[in-house]
Amino acid sequence: MKNNWLAFLLALAVSGALPILHAEEAAAGGNNTAGKDKASSCAGCHGEDGNSMMPTFPKLAQQNSSYLIKQLQAFKEGSRNDPVMSGMAMAVNDADMEDIAAYYSSQAISANPEPTLPVDDDAADGVAAENEAKEAIQTLLSTGSNLYRNGNLTSQVSACIACHGPSGEGNKPATFPALRSQHTDYLIKTLTDFKSGTRSKNTDNMMYMITKKMTDDEIKAVSYYISTMK
Ligand code: HEC
Ligand code: HEC
Repeated sequence: MKNNWLAFLLALAVSGALPILHAEEAAAGGNNTAGKDKASSCAGCHGEDGNSMMPTFPKLAQQNSSYLIKQLQAFKEGSRNDPVMSGMAMAVNDADMEDIAAYYSSQAISANPEPTLPVDDDAADGVAAENEAKEAIQTLLSTGSNLYRNGNLTSQVSACIACHGPSGEGNKPATFPALRSQHTDYLIKTLTDFKSGTRSKNTDNMMYMITKKMTDDEIKAVSYYISTMK
């Protein structure tokens, strides 16, 4: 635990993020019944209850409302880019954003099926190949769990737990997103986008600074692990 906090404070110092902890809670209210209606144009991609079926469309259910509003504003003003979402967010006014965020944050997120890795179909010994794939996923999940909890002291990757919480619940007042049960494919994509600067090339963005120090293998392992968190 000591190391986690050390990594946390280090991350804050490096990213200059301290003031964000004192930021006002973004989502004051919002009406979740009105939000359900207003979110009807979002359902095709994000699912009616915010549990999208497509692995590259993020689940929004049970996400912190403060974070949802912050992201919609970011798409709208262009500090986060996505060909689809930029246009969608443009059509949502501030009051509607609060209602939509209230609605999604009140929905329960669905659990993902147990993750697997592809089995080598050409292997001479089919059973051995299956066991290998099972072992490989266990190794990947434990690497991911270790990184989530402890970070990587050698390469100074901060422990994710410090900001995203022991169960991946995030931190609403600080607008840190919940991560638990998110789709693996979306997690890998968005972490890679942070790393390349596609999502935010801003040195004030903590995730840009953190992912720059992560290897692609670490991104994969931690994404698989997070998708299993409940
Ligand atoms: C055509 C599909 C599509 C529609 C319709 C759509 N979205 Fe999205 N949304 C996406 C995709 C894809 C992303 C991920 C973008 C990325 O990779 O950066 C996303 C991302 C988001 C995010 C960021 C989530 C996160 O975890 O960071 C929010 C919030 C969001 N959408 C809200 C909405 C709302 C509200 C609506 C309706 C007004 C909507 N979306 C309609 C496809 C869609
Ligand atoms: C110092 C706090 C902090 C630490 C440590 C941290 N994060 Fe984050 N994370 C954030 C913030 C703040 C955001 C929102 C960034 C934005 O608004 O663009 C975020 C966003 C994310 C997202 C995007 C979620 C979404 O729905 O799109 C993922 C995935 C993520 N973090 C994973 C991680 C992983 C994995 C680690 C550990 C290797 C980690 N974070 C460590 C603060 C942190």
